[in-house]
Amino acid sequence: MPAANTYRLLILPGDGIGPEVMGEVRKVAGWFRDKRRAPIEIRERPFGMASWEKYGSLMPDETWAEITAADAVLFGATGSLAQQATISAAERKKGSLLTMRKALDVFANVRPIKANAALLSASSLKPEVVDGVDLVFVRELTAGVYFGEPRGVEKLADGVERGVNTHVYTSTEVERVARFAFELARQRKAEGKPGHVHSVDKANVMEAGAMWRRVVQRVRDAEFADVTLHHMLADNCAMQLIRWPRQFDVIVTDNLFGDLLSDCGAMITGSLGMLPSASLSARDAHGRRRALYEPIHGSAPDIAGKSLANPLAAILSFAMCLRETLGQAEDAATLERAVDKVLASGARTADLAAKGAPSLSTTGMGDAVVSALASA
Ligand code: NAI
Ligand code: MG
Repeated sequence: MPAANTYRLLILPGDGIGPEVMGEVRKVAGWFRDKRRAPIEIRERPFGMASWEKYGSLMPDETWAEITAADAVLFGATGSLAQQATISAAERKKGSLLTMRKALDVFANVRPIKANAALLSASSLKPEVVDGVDLVFVRELTAGVYFGEPRGVEKLADGVERGVNTHVYTSTEVERVARFAFELARQRKAEGKPGHVHSVDKANVMEAGAMWRRVVQRVRDAEFADVTLHHMLADNCAMQLIRWPRQFDVIVTDNLFGDLLSDCGAMITGSLGMLPSASLSARDAHGRRRALYEPIHGSAPDIAGKSLANPLAAILSFAMCLRETLGQAEDAATLERAVDKVLASGARTADLAAKGAPSLSTTGMGDAVVSALASA
């Protein structure tokens, strides 16, 4: 029996490269439990096709019970052609990552993007553009066009198809994610960072975007007069992210724009395989947030099963778990230093390696991080 003050972490490896990168997270988490006495119990359940094959369900009751009993979920990746081909849309929805995010109400998806000095040349952008970038996306994760109703595809009388998705936000949903972003900006200012917020929308062409802008401004004026707020249109933000990313500190935006713009921002770090994230709920009466830690990348079917995947996004997501769920900022910093050390030594997975240069496998990179931990 684990001690009462033990945190229960649940690994859901999922599809594609999910099991590969989460295998390395298990190693790293095991190191903190065994060598640093981190008060964690690590459990695991199959997710995605692995769950379907074992239980005939993408979300058996037992899995859902484990998810709700966990202090944090460490998620790999989801999405496979087999799932699309063999499982009905209703079943897929029941066991989807989106449904899980919604049910856990983890509305704030925090995606830090930090240029790593050792990886400046791995970026597709010029080193002088990338150098020193340290920004955070706060992506709204449980509303917007990925959830809005009505949705679907209908066939009209003349045989023409009509596809509909609905972008919808309530002012309450905008307020809470705005508040989260302003609090984060305040915290970053206290750490010596710029501590300002860009709110990103399409207020020029979307009524819901104009409302987003008005509500974010209202929250700022009423509660965060000390935090500077800029508004930016989403298309301009896409351009500014690759033109001059150092202008950003905290970027708050909706579900769809946050998805797109953070993948774009990933190239600042050199690879999608570098970007961690934390999806967080509001605090409960004890000050705790429900949490889902997930790399921002998907199941990468093009490289799955070949030990080519970069596990650092998943490993750095675990660092976010150490900091946010366990409150172990020291351990989180140790893990981030270990990753920096490995990269500074020149070790690279294939996504980051220069053309023709040798590269580490997924497990090789995980092992390198674990051995760097002892002296980080
Ligand atoms: P993806 O993120 O899986 O891959 C995009 C590109 O980045 C691919 O070339 C892939 O090889 C590369 N890549 C991604 N992660 C990497 C890593 N850790 N190391 C090295 N290279 C990496 O996005 P894609 O290909 O558009 O989608 C594939 C599947 O993943 C789809 O079914 C999609 O729905 C799903 N997906 C799931 C997400 C999640 O689980 N959170 C997020 C994004 C997509
Ligand atoms: Mg995405």
